[in-house]
Amino acid sequence: MPQATYHFPRGFLWGTATSSHQVEGNNTNNQWWKWEQDGHTDGTSGLACDWWGGRWREDFDRAAEGGQNAHRFSVEWSRIQPTPDTWDEDALERYRSMLRGLRERGITPMVTLHHFTDPLWFYEMDGWEHDEAAVMFEKFVRKTVDALKEYCSFWCTINEPNVYALSGYVAGVFPTKRRGLNIALRVQANMLRGHAAAYRAIHEIQKDARVGYALHYRPMVAHNSWSPLDRLMRNIQYNGINMAFPSAISTGVMKSPMGNVRIPEAKGTQDYLGVNYYSVDTIKFDITNPKELFGKRYYPDDSDFSATKFIANIPQGIFDSIKWAVRTYPDLPIYITENGVEDAEDKMRPRYIAQHIHQVWRAVNFNFPVKGYFYWSLVDNFEWERGWTQRFGLWGLDVETQKRIKRPSVDLYAEICKENGLSSEMVQKYCPEVFEKLFPV
Ligand code: BGC
Repeated sequence: MPQATYHFPRGFLWGTATSSHQVEGNNTNNQWWKWEQDGHTDGTSGLACDWWGGRWREDFDRAAEGGQNAHRFSVEWSRIQPTPDTWDEDALERYRSMLRGLRERGITPMVTLHHFTDPLWFYEMDGWEHDEAAVMFEKFVRKTVDALKEYCSFWCTINEPNVYALSGYVAGVFPTKRRGLNIALRVQANMLRGHAAAYRAIHEIQKDARVGYALHYRPMVAHNSWSPLDRLMRNIQYNGINMAFPSAISTGVMKSPMGNVRIPEAKGTQDYLGVNYYSVDTIKFDITNPKELFGKRYYPDDSDFSATKFIANIPQGIFDSIKWAVRTYPDLPIYITENGVEDAEDKMRPRYIAQHIHQVWRAVNFNFPVKGYFYWSLVDNFEWERGWTQRFGLWGLDVETQKRIKRPSVDLYAEICKENGLSSEMVQKYCPEVFEKLFPV
């Protein structure tokens, strides 16, 4: 049996990612809380992981004991700016102590400034549809970055603007008052303006800041590669879902199947690219699905499915995503800002982690500038419209008692982080079923 270790470069960041609403609990002043109370989600966030009540300490201990040297978390706009004209200095102080807490544990923080949640007052003004949305966001960013800059210089302006816009304004599963592709387009355009304004503001405040955003990138393949209609649909869906932010940051023009929007100030506004990768979609022409521009997205029946079939385990896709990023932005550092799987029983997670990290290693060995990997997530947390029905944590959570439950993946990921690599022994121990794929003789 071959014995080997896939080593990563010195200084590689190994972490986990979380977001405020999903872990803090009692975020009563944002649009998601309202959406939950109005019955749109499978359960409510409630106390979540009770980080606002102080349990971040024990979870940061778990991250540190697990050898993690980085953590990505988000701050909650609705706590920091509860009304348009007030700032909550205590909330900022709380985030400062969380950042100190990470530093004290030897963990480099990456702070996300917007992760799907908006203050209620902003939502009531139609949120990112509003002409002044970018200005309002910039004001919040300036205040927050100025307050936190002592402990953090690694910023992610906006998480998955494409998912935010499409899940809300097209699919209607995220908080929204209206639906329409044109509204989703407008929302993404305003988010781009907000991102660009934040990028400049952060650099003004902090010279050595590294600023980027996290793109939910979906590689896609056509159902039948010989079918012109499937290929056409694949391209429409691919561009519609993936390309709004990347095109505008490359060229200053946001491209979309609904038309192009000039946003010249967006050009060049990233110091790194954050890639959130989960799976690959197959696209088929479907005349009965006008809502999604006549394309149907699915996973093939013989996929290696996660517990609720939300994710198909397709590790090659993370390599392809990195390759796409390098071709689009040569030399720009890349961070895998999210990658993970829902799996309450931890049956698939060990192989999902090992296989994806193996692909990241392949990318690094092509000299692709991948600098870090953040597993989603540290502990089970509130999964938006899917509530508590999906469990992405290395650690499980008993929502009633707040007890953390150790899954085998905790130890696997800790061994990877501590070794700065993935070894044949680890694969043999935690996911022998993929040994031959990862260590062929
Ligand atoms: C989001 C996370 C979410 C994860 C798993 C990502 O799209 O950024 O907030 O929990 O997917 O569903």
